[in-house]
Amino acid sequence: MTRTHHCGELTLNEIGQTVTLMGWVHGRRDHGGVLFIDLRDRFGVTQLVFDIEKDAPIHADANALRNEFVVAVTGNVRVRPEESINPQLATGHIEIEVASLTVLNEAKTPPFLIEDDVQVTESIRLKHRYLDLRRPRMQQLLKLRHDVTFQVRHFLHQRRFLEVETPILTKSTPEGARDYLVPSRVNAGEFFALPQSPQLFKQILMVGGADRYFQIARCFRDEDLRLDRQPEFTQIDMEMSFIQQEDILTLGEELIATVCREAAGIILPTPFPRLTYHEAMDRYGTDKPDRRFGLELRNLNEVAKQVEFKVFRDTVESGGLVAGLVIKGGGQIARNQIDRLIDVAKGFGAKGLAWVKIADGWKLDSAIAKFLKAEPFQQALPDAEPGDLMVFIADKPAVTYDVLGRLRLHLGEELKLIDRDRWEPLWVTDFPLLEYDHDERRYVALHHPFTGPRIEDIPKLDTAPLETHAQAYDLVLNGFEIGGGSIRIYQSDVQQKVFDLLGITKESAQEKFGFLLDALEYGAPPHGGIAFGLDRLVMLLGKTESIRDVIPFPKTQKAQCMMTEAPSAVSNVQLNELHIKLNLEL
Ligand code: AMO
Ligand code: AMP
Repeated sequence: MTRTHHCGELTLNEIGQTVTLMGWVHGRRDHGGVLFIDLRDRFGVTQLVFDIEKDAPIHADANALRNEFVVAVTGNVRVRPEESINPQLATGHIEIEVASLTVLNEAKTPPFLIEDDVQVTESIRLKHRYLDLRRPRMQQLLKLRHDVTFQVRHFLHQRRFLEVETPILTKSTPEGARDYLVPSRVNAGEFFALPQSPQLFKQILMVGGADRYFQIARCFRDEDLRLDRQPEFTQIDMEMSFIQQEDILTLGEELIATVCREAAGIILPTPFPRLTYHEAMDRYGTDKPDRRFGLELRNLNEVAKQVEFKVFRDTVESGGLVAGLVIKGGGQIARNQIDRLIDVAKGFGAKGLAWVKIADGWKLDSAIAKFLKAEPFQQALPDAEPGDLMVFIADKPAVTYDVLGRLRLHLGEELKLIDRDRWEPLWVTDFPLLEYDHDERRYVALHHPFTGPRIEDIPKLDTAPLETHAQAYDLVLNGFEIGGGSIRIYQSDVQQKVFDLLGITKESAQEKFGFLLDALEYGAPPHGGIAFGLDRLVMLLGKTESIRDVIPFPKTQKAQCMMTEAPSAVSNVQLNELHIKLNLEL
């Protein structure tokens, strides 16, 4: 018995043909003398008809069919009666009059129905992922992910990139997360680290003359998980030699726009707009702004100096930032809702949230009205008008930005300001090279330690490290960071200087990255690259809220696989071989 067609294929063109289909029983309807079965496979659903009048034994077999049984049927393609035509379905004009039925496998009653709006917890879906994956929505997302990787390979192949695999059992690559470690059996007490990214290998490939590299690369990071973060995820990883930042932005933009168009029919507006890191922070309070709506941050330090409100004045005097949001028509918002908004702001780490409603004639309606006056606000916010609500945060700049950035997103959702059909890509450029970590009392790399400073900023590494800008860039789509990269340091003296600033000693640098430092001494070409988060990109294109929906076998919030129950205990024999003794009290 050979399958002649799949379940999404037959139309009026095949009327009268004898066909063999195989698939899963999706549902059944018993209409007295006639039994209808929907047969499902990856490609669609076809209606089968068992006509008791014509062939009683088959009908008895068909009666025993239950959902998710796997069957093969042979029969005749015929036109559906007028009243049962389903124009929504590709195969909705035909049905199969079944002549023979073979049950290939039976199935237990599944713990949930195989349909899109299934009402079941995610943990049950994940435990029975093989059933979950049968749902049309999951099949569609699997296909979308395939189409995206296919388009990536096609695009980069055409531009003469080489796809190269780099090791999974390797040495730590610093991307800011914890490493997953793998003990070595033959080298007692030694460990591999799984790569947080192929960063060092792709740079070495440039020194090796590969010129243009890419990889659909699995990366591993032991960090706190969120809806857009998995411990094991995939990058579209690229590196190029003899190029500048502009070349990478141009090519990256073309790649992403092409993939979105070809794989998902989504047209991104090109050229992608660009903002510097500082502009992004000032206007949105974050380096990954969602620009599908306005509600931009407003710097009010000048206003704060002109009013009596002590919180504002003190903040500005101590080098802080007073900034706010103007909520159009927000005068309608009730007091208890404002109180809730204050709680939300406090939840984000604010000390408080000052608010002012602009009443008729620019009268200020606020608990702190007596410490304020209208004119400075009117001047600073020419678009504000009676009927609006203004809210303010006064704090250290980092806190003000963070709270207002998150409050902006919260209000965007709450007030339904986000246009879900809009696509807003954005390059963010000119990141600072370093940040100062007050807890650890040292500089840390904003991107990673191999990121090149702007050439004209190299002298600042000695004089004003925090003012050094990096040749680094991120790609943001609808408020998600979907890519990041940089032009790399390719001279070993500059690399050494950056390691010094980061507090990485010569010995430690040699031990951790000696091979890279060595390679840089043997004719390293100038190079740079970028990595896009494949999972996040597919998540956005598939319009799903969770990265877990686009990873066939994802991990839970606790970094566990519900289906295999990994991670799990191992035997003492295995531990002994690995020279490991557990101490669970630590
Ligand atoms: P970065 O760390 O910015 O850069 O990672 C690149 C992109 O990978 C995605 N990403 C993730 N996706 C899902 N789960 C995670 N835990 C996760 N972490 C990161 C993001 C991010 O933009 N080696 C550099 C790239 C380079 O410099 O070329 C790197 O890994 O979309
Ligand atoms: P207080 O003087 O602490 O009673 O605060 C007066 C008003 O200012 C209240 O509405 C507080 O929510 C608000 N407020 C207090 N601290 C801040 C701050 N750091 N930023 C913005 N508003 C604040």
